[in-house]
Amino acid sequence: MNYNKKSIEDIEVAGKRVLCRCDFNVPTKDGKITSDKRIVAAMPTIEYLVSKGAKVILCSHMGKPKGEWKPELSLKVVAQRISELLGKEVVMAADVAGEDAQAKAAALQNGDVMLLENTRYIKGETKNDPELSKALASMADIFVNDAFGTAHRAHSSTAGVADYLPAVSGYLVQKEVSIMGKALANPERPFVAILGGAKVSDKLNVINNLLEKVDTLIIGGGMAYTFLAAQGYSVGKSLVDNEKLDYCKEMMAKAQAKGVNLLLPVDTAVAGSFPNPIDAEIPVSYVDCTNIPDDQMGLDIGPKACEAFAAAAKSAKTVVWNGPMGVFENPTLAKGTVAVAQALADSDAVTIVGGGDSAAACEQLGFADKITHISTGGGASLEFLEGLELPGIACLQDK
Ligand code: 3PG
Repeated sequence: MNYNKKSIEDIEVAGKRVLCRCDFNVPTKDGKITSDKRIVAAMPTIEYLVSKGAKVILCSHMGKPKGEWKPELSLKVVAQRISELLGKEVVMAADVAGEDAQAKAAALQNGDVMLLENTRYIKGETKNDPELSKALASMADIFVNDAFGTAHRAHSSTAGVADYLPAVSGYLVQKEVSIMGKALANPERPFVAILGGAKVSDKLNVINNLLEKVDTLIIGGGMAYTFLAAQGYSVGKSLVDNEKLDYCKEMMAKAQAKGVNLLLPVDTAVAGSFPNPIDAEIPVSYVDCTNIPDDQMGLDIGPKACEAFAAAAKSAKTVVWNGPMGVFENPTLAKGTVAVAQALADSDAVTIVGGGDSAAACEQLGFADKITHISTGGGASLEFLEGLELPGIACLQDK
C-alpha cells in the first residue's frame, strides 16, 4: 500500500468547506469525557484549518449506536471540549447530514467550526452507503481524513465520501502513517516487536506479518500459553487456544527458518483462578513456565521474563509493542506490563506503542512523553501491523 498521501498542506483550503473526519470516539462516564486524548490529537489539524480560513465541518462516530439516536452517544460533549481547546465557538449540528447540518454548513464563515452529530446515528454509515456519502460530501468542497483510529473501517464518513470529494490526510493520520510505516518498511535494526493480549486468534496475521520484518519477536500475555503448550509444556489451567496449536508450531518454525529470535516468557505469575472482580486482591506465586502446576493458571509474565524482555527492548533500535503482558487491570498482575512499559520508556530506540491497552498502560504510568509514538488507533494500528490496506488511507490522493 502507498502511504505517501497528500495532506492538508498540499491543497488550498482557504475559504473552502472542509469536511474533516476525526476519531472523537472518546470514553465518557455520566456524560463527561474521561480521556480527551483523541480530541487533543486532532487539534493540530483543526487549528491549521481554522488558521487558513477554511469553513470546518468536523465529523466522527462515538460508540456503536447502530443507527439508533442514542442521546448518551451524542457528540455535544465533544463540541464543548473542542470549543474549550480552540478558544472559540463550535457550532453543533442537530443531525448528521440532514436539514440542520446542511443549513449550518451553508452558513459557515471562513475560520468557523461546526461538528456534525454521531455519524453512526445513521444506519448507512457502517454500510458505506453511497447516499450518506453523497449527503456528507454535498456540504463540503474537500474531505480531510484525520481519523486514524477508524482508518480500518470502510464507512461512509471514513472512506465512501472520498468518492465524491478531493481527499487528503490530516496531520494525525500523516504522523501515524509515517512513523509506523517507516518502522515496518525501513526500520532501524535491531527491530524488536513485543506482542501481548489474551488470544492468539486476535493476532494471527500480526505475528505472521511481523515475522517477515523483525529481528526479535517477543510473545507475552495470555497468548504465550498457547505457544508454550505448542512446545509441549503443560500449562495447567492457563488460557490455551487449542485450535491454534498447529498455527503456533508453524510460526515457531517460520521464526527459525527466518532467523528471527522468538522469545517466550521463561517464568510466569500463577494463581488458582482468574481474579473476580478483575482488580480483586489475589495471592500469586511465580514459577518457571516449564513447571506450571496443574491446578494453577498463568496470569502475568514473571520477573525473569520481565528482565529478558526489557533487555531485548533496551538493545533494540526500533521497538513496536502491542498488547499487555498479563491481567494488567489487577495491580498484582500488572508487573509484566509495567516492566515492558518501563523498558520502552528507558530505551533509546524508536518506540511505538499500538493503541488500546498498552497505550493506556503507558499513559497511566506517566510514560507517554518517553515513548516516540503512542498510536491513537486500537484496531487500526493492529491492522496496520498486519500489513493490511486501511480503507480510510487508501482512499486519499497519492502525492
Ligand atoms: C476505536 O475506538 O478503536 C475506533 O474509534 C474505532 O471504533 P470501532 O471499533 O467502534 O469501529
